[in-house]
Amino acid sequence: MIIGVIKETKEYENRVAMSPEVVKLTRKKGFEVIVESGAGERSFFSDQDYLNAGATIGTCKEALGADLVLKVNLATVAEISQMKENAGYISYMYAYQHPEILEAFNKKRITTFSMDAVPRISRAQKMDALSSQANLAGYKAVLLGANYLGKIFPLLMTASGTITPARVLIFGAGVAGLQAIATAKRLGAVVECTDVRPETKEQVESLGGRYLTVEGVEGVKTEGGYAREVSAEYLEKQQQLIREKIKEADLVITTALVMGKKSPILVTEDMVKSMKAGSVIVDMAVESGGNCAISEKNATVVKHGVTLVGESNLPSLLPVNASQLYATNISTLAFHLAGESGITLDLEDEITKGVLITHQGELVHAFTKQILSQ
Ligand code: NAI
Repeated sequence: MIIGVIKETKEYENRVAMSPEVVKLTRKKGFEVIVESGAGERSFFSDQDYLNAGATIGTCKEALGADLVLKVNLATVAEISQMKENAGYISYMYAYQHPEILEAFNKKRITTFSMDAVPRISRAQKMDALSSQANLAGYKAVLLGANYLGKIFPLLMTASGTITPARVLIFGAGVAGLQAIATAKRLGAVVECTDVRPETKEQVESLGGRYLTVEGVEGVKTEGGYAREVSAEYLEKQQQLIREKIKEADLVITTALVMGKKSPILVTEDMVKSMKAGSVIVDMAVESGGNCAISEKNATVVKHGVTLVGESNLPSLLPVNASQLYATNISTLAFHLAGESGITLDLEDEITKGVLITHQGELVHAFTKQILSQ
């Protein structure tokens, strides 16, 4: 069984699907690996590193001709046209957003699996790329925000005067939010956080953050560790709370996500206007529509005196670690699905069923089908 890894072509992408370390492990398990020349360059992995790990270096076409192709971002139609019929394929797919790509895969009867569909269960933790990447992104969001802020984070008592600590307000205490809390705390800020899932209170507090409770309404329905639905009443009460708190904040980091849906707008333009001049918002949800009404995807802009950071690919700014962790995630999934002699599907298995998107020329993923039929 041959595994192929190609260079990512998406704009702002520095990651690669396999690190040399993981290639070594993959070879030990009996797979052949072809890596496109230069695929690891932007993650600082050279062709020589891959050769030393036991890979073959080839052209893009050769790597795409493998039995199982591994990527970070979804393949293009042009890339799919160079893949083998009935091959296997794994990457982030966000399949419900790309029906035309699914069609291209189905025409070639390629069996595809999506990294963003790995169920959040303990058995699948080592395959959970959404978490490994969000963790790094939460860290980087704080550093980027700190960089734009004309202030330091910690309390500083000096002969020249006392500097009070920066106030950081975080929306969403998922993986990214919790890492953002931990990072901002380590730098000395006063950190507050709100989430729709009440069970996150304890986690926020254990990291030294202050949990802001939206009083008087039920939280939210959750499924598989994700928020599924937030009521209009809740959002309204939450808006009141945010309106009060945002005026005092120096840095706001928004990570609120409702899986498969457009992100909720938590910060309106009026709220931005009410913020202190020089404050910063890092809108981590910018890829799925944004939590701030006026942030811009892949741009940093100043509006109403507030710097709005809309970096949609934060893990890519930490390509070494991001590729290392992603490579572990994707290879663990690959080993779960395939052996030396090929892919064997156990459709009773929760992980396999969760990640399988297309098979034998058809879209088979229930959640994707449901969203596409709406
Ligand atoms: P997660 O699912 O672990 O956390 C999202 C959190 O938001 C959950 O705890 C959820 O309960 C909460 N939430 C949902 N609606 C809310 C609301 N109205 N108010 C407050 N909290 C609410 O997701 P994860 O992995 O932490 O990712 C968070 C966000 O960051 C996502 O939008 C994701 O796409 C984005 N992200 C962005 C990256 C970037 O480079 N910009 C990189 C990685 C993740």
